[in-house]
Amino acid sequence: MAGPFADTPGTPDVVPGAPPSDVPPTGARRQPLVSGNWKMHHDHIEALHTVRDLGLRIKPDDVAAVDVSIHPPFTDLRTVQTLVEAESIPVALGAQHCNDHDRGAFTGEVSPQMLARLGVRYVIVGHSERRQHFGMTDDAVAATLRAVLRHGMTPILCVGETQEERAAGSTETRLAAQLHAALAGLDAAQVAGIVVAYEPIWAIGSGTPASAVDAEDACLFVRQTVATLAGGDAAASLRVQYGGSVNAENAAELAAEPDVDGLLVGGASLDAAGFLEIVRATRPPARRRRA
Ligand code: 13P
Repeated sequence: MAGPFADTPGTPDVVPGAPPSDVPPTGARRQPLVSGNWKMHHDHIEALHTVRDLGLRIKPDDVAAVDVSIHPPFTDLRTVQTLVEAESIPVALGAQHCNDHDRGAFTGEVSPQMLARLGVRYVIVGHSERRQHFGMTDDAVAATLRAVLRHGMTPILCVGETQEERAAGSTETRLAAQLHAALAGLDAAQVAGIVVAYEPIWAIGSGTPASAVDAEDACLFVRQTVATLAGGDAAASLRVQYGGSVNAENAAELAAEPDVDGLLVGGASLDAAGFLEIVRATRPPARRRRA
């Protein structure tokens, strides 16, 4: 086995003092979630065209065994919500971030309450770009995650290591620290319903995704770590996505791994046809059409 996990298959290096991992079963039938993170792309008119295009192409069979969410910029959300509802397009509305307060003097921020009122179902929390460029700390990630849960939405918690951490062999230490900071203290039922996205920072926007083996090892490690925090049942229910340079060519191989429960897609989600190819590639094998 190659990659940063070569020395420790199945033996997660959890934070010191944590109880031994109650390893949950892998390959349990968790419905994959494919999420399109548009980042700061597509104004509301472009969003209208893209979602209309998606609506014309998507078939009931595409979403029979896969959940799909799209995460446009804040200024697009109302437009996308209206279109998705009016045309019954089978995708969930998602946001890329929010503040952890419900209201107040926080110039430029958007609250989880506002997102919930718009029908947002999934909120990305702690994306590496928020952590890197906007100083989002582990404490802020934990507070935001709780705020999203408080309003009945599902957080997609992003974790992932830098190239330097990977080279130093500290990927697992980094992931465990991020998971502990965000999830410690939540009850098992809360943890069971969230989504974690493993997004190695070196793979984001680089054109070079993690190998399927490394993605699986990291997603399994996430699940094992969650088991130490919230128990095996919660860990077995939790969905773990892979993200970082996913495209229509590599999606099927990544999504076929037993602990990869879907994909968080950046650049390749901006085009409806390409995004739909990724959704189709993510369907559990029995549901995939023959080429
Ligand atoms: P890319 O798919 O463009 O590498 O972006 C990944 C990402 O950051 C999704 O949140």
